[in-house]
Amino acid sequence: ASPYEYFGTHQAGITTPVQDHLHFASFDMMARTDAADLQSLLKDWSYAASRMTQGLDVSATGAVGGSPEAPPDDTGEALGLAASGLTITFGFGPTLFEADGVDRFGIAALRPAGLEKLPPFLGDDLDPDKSGGDLCIQACADDPQVAVHAIRNLSRIAFGRAKLRWSQLGFGRTSRTTADQQTPRNLFGFKDGTANILADDAGALDEHVWVAASDQPAWMAGGSYLVARKIAMLIETWDRVRLSEQETIVGRTKGTGAPLSGGRETTDPDFTAKDAAGAPAIPVTSHVRLAHPDFNDGTRILRRGYNFVDGNNDLGRLDAGLFFLSFQRSPAQFTTLQKKLSTDAMREYIKHVGSGVWAVPPGAAKGSYVGAGLFA
Ligand code: HEM
Repeated sequence: ASPYEYFGTHQAGITTPVQDHLHFASFDMMARTDAADLQSLLKDWSYAASRMTQGLDVSATGAVGGSPEAPPDDTGEALGLAASGLTITFGFGPTLFEADGVDRFGIAALRPAGLEKLPPFLGDDLDPDKSGGDLCIQACADDPQVAVHAIRNLSRIAFGRAKLRWSQLGFGRTSRTTADQQTPRNLFGFKDGTANILADDAGALDEHVWVAASDQPAWMAGGSYLVARKIAMLIETWDRVRLSEQETIVGRTKGTGAPLSGGRETTDPDFTAKDAAGAPAIPVTSHVRLAHPDFNDGTRILRRGYNFVDGNNDLGRLDAGLFFLSFQRSPAQFTTLQKKLSTDAMREYIKHVGSGVWAVPPGAAKGSYVGAGLFA
């Protein structure tokens, strides 16, 4: 497969066919850095990203072409590996624009109005150390070593300017963004990504994912907003639930992923359908019904999350879940859906433990760098 282009109208890693692996990282700018530091960081990150996504070392001298007396520019663990579908997507958090009332980089006036810390939601149990961040990088690839190499080298390039705040590995995609991608499964064992916005649906992307030229601020045109939620799954509890109940919680069958109103995976759910007892075939507290555009004024999002297992706890339970990632034209779309999900039957089996929201600027033009619009 040929590598994905780094430069373009939109950043790669949004409508790109979802790769198998994720390394996501959140960064904070270091104390006493200024606008020049931020600008140079974005330039250096873009240069390295434009090379790594093509399967190249971070610089021309790279891992082994430099002076034997100096540490190499590139850490080397991706030597000999292909580009592996690597995409690197950058985002700017609310705190980059203003933190504790301080405009560190002279960009407070450029903050998109909708870019602020997400409101608290029912049942949130957020760990501040796994939430927020001035900047984020989503690295996706079909080889986990390639994704990890990207984050490791971008962290290294940031030295003295930004430092890693938290990071997350994801190992199995939980969505699809093209019609020919098979729908994968999440750790509850259900197909995930059936009703997603797909890459070839230009109308839906323009309406629900890309920031329009008529939206504010102007520098975000062609960009999007990224919401990350680290969602722990209480899988041992879930695994004791009867199959029929698991299906009524989701609103779809576990085998084919068809809606409980009948048909195939891709059949539209019929929320008026009744079961044998005369109750709604797709229960009103099911996840699919609550998240469906019909009950949310047409709200849709592009989901691009990953499964995670971060080892286990002292009780021998897997520390597992879904690292939920969604792209939308405004963070308000996520907020609308997440509020609606306050009555979700699935809530008993999940816990949101991390959260973040970032403005994802448009793609960099060739010869330019990501976020150049902040310094225009
Ligand atoms: C649909 C699982 C969290 C929004 C689905 C489906 C599954 C699922 C199995 C049905 C298949 C599909 O269309 O993709 C989960 C799990 C979650 C989770 C296990 C947490 C661990 C969320 C969150 C949101 C969300 C936090 C947004 C706030 C949606 C939407 C749909 C959906 C919009 C499509 C609804 C439709 O149009 O039919 N989810 N989900 N999900 N989910 Fe989730």
